[in-house]
Amino acid sequence: MPTYDYSKAIEIAPDVYWLGFYDPVANFHCHPYLIKVGDEGILIDPGSLPHFPIVAKKATSVIKPRKIKYIIAHHQDPDLAANIPVFEKIIHSKDLRVITTERASFLTSYYGFEAPYRFVEEGPLQFNGRTFQFITTPYLHAPGAFVTYDPANKVLFSSDVFGSFYENWSLYAGDAYPKAMERFHSTYMPPGDVLKNQMGVFEKLQLDLIAPQHGSLIEKTAIGPNIDALKKIRTGQYLKKRLYAGSVVRNDIK
Ligand SMILES: [Fe+2]
Ligand SMILES: [Fe+2]
Repeated sequence: MPTYDYSKAIEIAPDVYWLGFYDPVANFHCHPYLIKVGDEGILIDPGSLPHFPIVAKKATSVIKPRKIKYIIAHHQDPDLAANIPVFEKIIHSKDLRVITTERASFLTSYYGFEAPYRFVEEGPLQFNGRTFQFITTPYLHAPGAFVTYDPANKVLFSSDVFGSFYENWSLYAGDAYPKAMERFHSTYMPPGDVLKNQMGVFEKLQLDLIAPQHGSLIEKTAIGPNIDALKKIRTGQYLKKRLYAGSVVRNDIK
């Protein structure tokens, strides 16, 4: 496995860049990505306010800020969407659009950015001769969540799906990745078959790479085993947690 300089943007597919915040002690990493199409770009899940300086430095090392035409927010969480208004200031373009679902936009609007929305419900994005597809992933983990598929590169930007808690983090997933995904999905994803059924949708895609917002990149040969692993994970396990002193303990949850 090659070594990478995590202090820099890393090209993970042609003109697709990892802009993540590397923390050598954390077991949880957040990954913004940038897709360049010609000299313009799409910023995906740009991240949180504490990570902004690093993400912005990496983004501007590969593209001029005003050339970023779209920001994708795969749902409303602050670990991926809080710095949209800060990026909006440095992008400083009336052409900027924020892509999300109508449902997620109820909450992303509270971040206070001014750029208009380009809703997922309007269909695939045509951008400088390329097409990007959006696939809704309801309740994984937010009702308005979705993921982005780049057919030209066969890359799935999967947001929280395929994320993990991972000690000794590395950019690319190794053999232990299914276990690391289980730690994340078992409590983060809803009970029932929602996650398992979504895997049936992803299996129909041609995929060379999965790029989640947390955890590690999953390369082509590892995609099948990791999809199979997610089908088997028992989700909704946070229902069984009794974390809060003084809270009512439920005895009806098996
Ligand atoms: Fe999330
Ligand atoms: Fe997340």
